[in-house]
Amino acid sequence: MAHRVQGVVARQRQEPVTLETVVVPDPGPDEALVSLQACGVCHTDLHYREGAINDDFPFLLGHEAAGVVEAVGPGVTEVTPGDFVVLNWRAVCGHCRSCRRGRPQYCFATHNASQRMTLDDGTPLAPALGIGAFIEKTLVAAGQCTKVNAAARPEAVGLLGCGVMAGLGAALFTGEVGPGDTVAVFGCGGVGCAAIAGARLAGAGTIIGVDLDPRKLTLAREFGATDTVLAAAVNPVEAIRALSGGNGADVCIEAVGNATVMEQAFYARDLAGTLVQVGVPSPEMRIDLPMIDFFGRGGRLKPSWYGDCLPSRDFPMLVELYLQGRLDLDRFVSETIELDEIEDAFQRMEQGEVLRSVVVF
Ligand SMILES: NC(=O)c1ccc[n+]([C@@H]2O[C@H](COP(=O)([O-])OP(=O)(O)OC[C@H]3O[C@@H](n4cnc5c(N)ncnc54)[C@H](O)[C@@H]3O)[C@@H](O)[C@H]2O)c1
Ligand SMILES: [Zn+2]
Ligand SMILES: [Zn+2]
Repeated sequence: MAHRVQGVVARQRQEPVTLETVVVPDPGPDEALVSLQACGVCHTDLHYREGAINDDFPFLLGHEAAGVVEAVGPGVTEVTPGDFVVLNWRAVCGHCRSCRRGRPQYCFATHNASQRMTLDDGTPLAPALGIGAFIEKTLVAAGQCTKVNAAARPEAVGLLGCGVMAGLGAALFTGEVGPGDTVAVFGCGGVGCAAIAGARLAGAGTIIGVDLDPRKLTLAREFGATDTVLAAAVNPVEAIRALSGGNGADVCIEAVGNATVMEQAFYARDLAGTLVQVGVPSPEMRIDLPMIDFFGRGGRLKPSWYGDCLPSRDFPMLVELYLQGRLDLDRFVSETIELDEIEDAFQRMEQGEVLRSVVVF
């Protein structure tokens, strides 16, 4: 029997989102029905409603979420009803050319639910990042449910489902930050602050947070930045060199999605340093670098998709670090809101007032 529940839908490009009745089918083979407990508001949700991702309106928004499995379809072995799970957008297939080569963290054929959730009139919905979690219950592929320790707070650990994982993984996995490294993080929003937290977990020595907004630099320090640079006031490349003995950082992480910042991060590296790109660029952005600088500076330039995470490996591990008090996920939760307050939350996000607004069910 299908479920009729309230969900947040973007019907048309650049139009405010609306609360709609959504029809959620019972889980079929390899699917799970999840009763949501918390879901963060991410910039990507706003990108969907702006039409910046694609034109598959109407979208069911929300994707940084935690909840409890309510029912599973035939053949599901990963989770059982009652499990506390964080939803992920990397349910690996196990068969694509990347999985076969032992690199499931790049899986090129990730799973989503096969059945569609619809509006009351039968119009199929496109769930954000294949999840759709601003809703009381959602239907996902069972592999999108990662079971974690139920002692954790859903508002906090649900954020591992997207932006916080992207930032932590940019430092831990893509950037391979090591003990004593100097790390510079450009953009100290939710993703950048998570990268700072990841650099601290990895034992980095100097951690430099860079942002245009002084409020974000205060947050950067709370997450572990040892130094901060107000990019509105000084040249961040020179400032980072000055903070690293004139050399530059071992790892620079771009967490804005901006061509100028990307170039700054390129030049703020020490020789043989690593540049991690985690900010998502828009299609028209370009960078223009002299090839001799590319060659002469050496090192690595690495885009980071979802922090190169493997949810089944990383979510339970990070939740344990959270429960041990070694990873402060609570600090990302700036406020908790109701399902009908998403538009206001988008505004606060654009004004830079919050790291994450989190819907609590
Ligand atoms: N690669 C991935 O898998 C992945 C996953 C989630 C999000 N993202 C992307 O990460 C980026 C950051 O996301 P977020 O949620 O932290 O966004 P956010 O808006 O909260 O943070 C961006 C920060 O960048 C700062 N900023 C803007 N221009 C700047 C400049 N010129 N110099 C320095 N700082 C500047 C802003 O003040 C803000 O604090 C976005 O592009 C988002 O789409 C990527
Ligand atoms: Zn695969
Ligand atoms: Zn997201």
